[in-house]
Amino acid sequence: MRRLSKRLGVFLIMLVMMICIAGCGNSQENDKEKNKASSDKKNAQEPNSSVIGDGKILVVYFSRTGEQYTVGVIEEGNTAIVAKMIADQTGADLFEVLPADDHYPMTYSELTDVAKREQSKKARPEYAGEVPDLSKYSTIFIGAPVWWGDWPMIMYTFFEKNADALAGKNLIPFSTHEGSGLSGFDKKLSKACPDSAVLDGLAVRGNDAQNARDDVRESVKKWISDLQ
Ligand SMILES: Cc1cc2nc3c(=O)[nH]c(=O)nc-3n(C[C@H](O)[C@H](O)[C@H](O)COP(=O)(O)O)c2cc1C
Repeated sequence: MRRLSKRLGVFLIMLVMMICIAGCGNSQENDKEKNKASSDKKNAQEPNSSVIGDGKILVVYFSRTGEQYTVGVIEEGNTAIVAKMIADQTGADLFEVLPADDHYPMTYSELTDVAKREQSKKARPEYAGEVPDLSKYSTIFIGAPVWWGDWPMIMYTFFEKNADALAGKNLIPFSTHEGSGLSGFDKKLSKACPDSAVLDGLAVRGNDAQNARDDVRESVKKWISDLQ
């Protein structure tokens, strides 16, 4: 009888230990899950880490130096400044849309004439250089100056030539302007790239891009953070 109760005692102790070990294992799993959830949450709250998903990000932009409205002769284009701020804050790669034959004048009034003619003809000016492999990117910011209330025609060349490669991606438009805001860049981009998702865009005054950079950097930061 004593032997039986001793064996029963040993069995009970082992049973309790096994329950403890199993429980402990579960709680480690739970802790792991909790840590993962809290690190996911941390990542999600971290502004500018990844919009926007986990994939790589590209910033495509067109921009002019020379004489521009209200800012005089500039050495770095207004849109270029914003494009680089986005790249700095997101770790994105940059691609500048440059005209294959740079027929754009450096004086403002001549440039407006050329742009107007291109718009009336629905011209599709060629761009130079090789577009990076777009399949590497899940999110693509696309920016340009507003020209006569629209994207510069060369950007439509880019959209149309790359519409297939842009399908299924997040496209995020941005403009610089001197009063017209985003000028429907988002809707026009959606129309040109109907199989892409177009997210909320940002419009920045060209003069602010040149002369109020800290403010613009903050606006860019808030916009990106709101996109996430
Ligand atoms: C050809 C041309 C047309 C423009 N049309 C507009 C316009 O319709 N609305 C507006 O707000 N600004 C307009 N602007 C001003 C530019 O959008 C603004 O100066 C922009 O920041 C220039 O950017 P960039 O230096 O990157 O080229 C125009 C400028 C040019 C050269």
